[in-house]
Amino acid sequence: MIAVDLAEPDDFEAWRAEARRLVALGVPPHEARWAEADGPRDLFAAPAPAPAPASAAPERQVRASRAFMDLARKAILHSDPGRLALLYRVLWRLQEQPRLLDDAADGDVAALERLAKQVRRDIHKMRAFVRFRSVTDEDGTERYVAWFEPDHRIERANADFFVNRFASQRWSILTPRLSLHWDGAALLEGPPASRGDAPSQDAAEELWLGYYRSIFNPARLKVGMMLREMPRRYWKNLPEARQIPDLIAGAQQREAAMIATGASLFEEAAPPSLAAIAGGIEACRRCAIGCNGTRAVMGEGPANADLMIVGEQPGDTEEREHRPFVGPAGQLLDRALGEAGVDRQAAYVTNAVKHFKFTPRGKRRLHQTPTAGEIDICRWWLDGERALLRPKVILALGASGARGLLGRTPSIGKERGQAIAQPDGTKVWLTAHPSYLLRLDGEAREREHGRFAEDLAGLARMLRG
Ligand code: URA
Repeated sequence: MIAVDLAEPDDFEAWRAEARRLVALGVPPHEARWAEADGPRDLFAAPAPAPAPASAAPERQVRASRAFMDLARKAILHSDPGRLALLYRVLWRLQEQPRLLDDAADGDVAALERLAKQVRRDIHKMRAFVRFRSVTDEDGTERYVAWFEPDHRIERANADFFVNRFASQRWSILTPRLSLHWDGAALLEGPPASRGDAPSQDAAEELWLGYYRSIFNPARLKVGMMLREMPRRYWKNLPEARQIPDLIAGAQQREAAMIATGASLFEEAAPPSLAAIAGGIEACRRCAIGCNGTRAVMGEGPANADLMIVGEQPGDTEEREHRPFVGPAGQLLDRALGEAGVDRQAAYVTNAVKHFKFTPRGKRRLHQTPTAGEIDICRWWLDGERALLRPKVILALGASGARGLLGRTPSIGKERGQAIAQPDGTKVWLTAHPSYLLRLDGEAREREHGRFAEDLAGLARMLRG
C-alpha cells in the first residue's frame, strides 16, 4: 500500500502532481491510500516512492481529458473523504478507456459528476447568500464582514469572485474553516472563525427588512419553490429569511386583507434619504440580479437637480467603477447632452435597475436585458429617488428606463420627443438608449444619431422654458 498525503485538502495542483506520478509509476488504485493533513491516516501504509532516477525505465505517459480536469477541479473541493480515491480511480481507468466519461451509467463517472454538481451548487449558494454587514475598522475605515458556512471546501475557489465584485471595498468572509480578508489590494487568509465573530446587523439591514416585508407577496407564496431556491439551512444567516416563518404564518390573513382592500404591495414607508437608498440597494436581494454578487450602482448628481436621467442598468464599467453612465454609452450621452446644451453635471443620473445583469463569457461579462418583472421590482428604489429629488423633467433612455418610470413598456418610436405628464407634476421625456446607437452603423447610425440629437434639443427647450 502506498500512502499519499495532501497538505491542503482543496489543492488540486498538488493532487494532480501526485496522481500523475502514481499513474506513471503504475500504482493501481487499490494500492494507493489517499489522505489529507486534517483527515484520518493509514498508519501501516508505505510513503509514496520518491521520483524515479533519470536512468530508470521510461514511465507511462499519463492522459487526462480537459473534461476530466474540469470535473476533478470541482470534485476535489467536496467534503466527501472518498473523493481523492475516486478521482484517482477515474484517472487510472481513463488511461485504458479514454471515453470513460461518456458513459453516464458507469458508477465512478456518476459519482464524480454528482460530487462536482454538489460543489457547483455550493459555490453558487455562497455567491447568492453571503450577506455583508458594515463595521468600522480600528483605523476608522469601513469594512464589510460576512459569515458563511459552506458544505464543501469552496472558500478559496470562490475568493476571486468576491475580489472582482467588491474590488474597491474592504471585506472579510468568515467561515468555520478559514477566513478571507480583502483590503482593496491584497487577499489574506486567516484562521477559522465562528458565527459570533461576525456582526449581526447594520443600518442598511433595517431598510432591507422593511422592503422585504413590503414586497413579500402572500398571494404568490410557493413554499416548495422557495425552499429549493433558498434552502432552510441558509436561513439563519439571511436577515430577510428570519422573517419568513412569520410571514408564511400571516400570509393567509394578509392575502385576505389585500383582496378585501385592494391594497398595494408597496405600502411600506418610502426610503427617507438617498443614503438610505444607497444602503438599501446594496443589500437588496429581491430579484435574481440582486443575488448575482455585483455591487449596486447608486444614482449620482445634485439632490436639487431639475433634470433626472434614467438609464436601464449599470454596465460592466459602471459596476466596476461604481458610478452610473461612465462607460462607452455614458460617453456618448455626455457628448450628445453637451451638443444640445444640457449640462450633465447639473443632472441626477440613475438607472431603472440598480445591479448589473450579465452572462459570463470567459473573462467577459456580457450585458443582459432585465425582464419587465425585474424592472418592476427595482422600481421601488427608483420611485424613492424620484420622491426625494422631485425633478421637473425626467429623461428616460430606452424602453427599460421608461418602464421603470411609467410602469409600462412604451414604444419609444411612437412616444419619443414628447412630454408625458406624471401625477406628481413631473414630465417624462423619452428617447433611445445610447447603447442602441453604439450598435448601429452606416445610414441607420446617422439617422438614429440625428433623432437622438433632436430629442435632446427638445429636452433642452423644455428645461429652459
Ligand atoms: N447603460 C445604462 O443604462 N446605464 C448605465 O449606467 C450605463 C449604461
